[in-house]
Amino acid sequence: MPYQYISLERCEGIAIIRLQRPEALNALNRQMIEELEQCFMELEADKKAGAIIITGEKHFAAGADINDMLEFSPEQARAFSFRHCFARIEAFPKPVLAAVSGFALGGGMELTLVCDWRIADKTARFGLPEINLGIFPGAGGTLRLPRLIGTARAKEMIFSGGTIKAEQALEYGLINQIAEDALAETIKTAQMLAGKPPIALKLAKQCISQAFDIDGVKAIEFESIAWASCFATRDQREGMQAFTEKRKPEFQGI
Ligand code: HXC
Repeated sequence: MPYQYISLERCEGIAIIRLQRPEALNALNRQMIEELEQCFMELEADKKAGAIIITGEKHFAAGADINDMLEFSPEQARAFSFRHCFARIEAFPKPVLAAVSGFALGGGMELTLVCDWRIADKTARFGLPEINLGIFPGAGGTLRLPRLIGTARAKEMIFSGGTIKAEQALEYGLINQIAEDALAETIKTAQMLAGKPPIALKLAKQCISQAFDIDGVKAIEFESIAWASCFATRDQREGMQAFTEKRKPEFQGI
């Protein structure tokens, strides 16, 4: 399907989604969010893409489009919410990685929070400047950021609206790595993940997501059932057989 504000490229076992609205630093408008959601629906059926990268060009995304929001009523603001699209990305059954250069602000930074893995280069700037617009992060930031970096630092970022550099983001645990070339490094990581057993990866991702949303006893029970179900896969046999035969496993996703 052709998209206007994003592009989708498939390469060597992974897919790369590029946010493409450079004239507005990739500010996320409604159509972009719809296209992003559509793109993930398209990728769900794609057996060849083992991991997905979201990236920008010079900048990741400078937030939701402020021009769109200027005259919103509360009802319109709620309808504009990114929650359905972001929930789909967060629950996507394969690893989703963000390669970040330049600004990842507001809804743009919140988009990185629904990804499983974040790699940035030294130009990256993270921040939630919504407070300076008379609002606060409304695309999951108040939930996902404290879970990731702790309440104290999340409050600092959300209340101050300040921007942090890649080094500080790494120190906070907001990103996994700083690389000379964020996209090149993210492609390497995505390809490494695409070589892992997809069913075990999907189940591990589900367990980690569930762990925060259900009580501890249920989470352990869920993990035990999911873990045991790996033993119904050929990839479990292959992984363990390969270990005993001292060779590299070849996983097939079955
Ligand atoms: C609309 C934006 C934009 C945005 C940048 N632009 N960010 N347009 N919405 N969020 C546009 C500018 O208007 C300008 O267009 C062009 O992109 C280049 O931006 P400049 O400001 O000229 O660049 P620079 O001086 O380098 O400053 C970069 C910047 C600044 C620091 C990132 O643009 C900025 O503060 N942007 C807003 C960041 C922000 O507040 N984000 C949070 C949004 S609220 P023209 O036409 O003038 O060239 C949000 C809510 C999420 O994200 C929840 C939703 C459910």
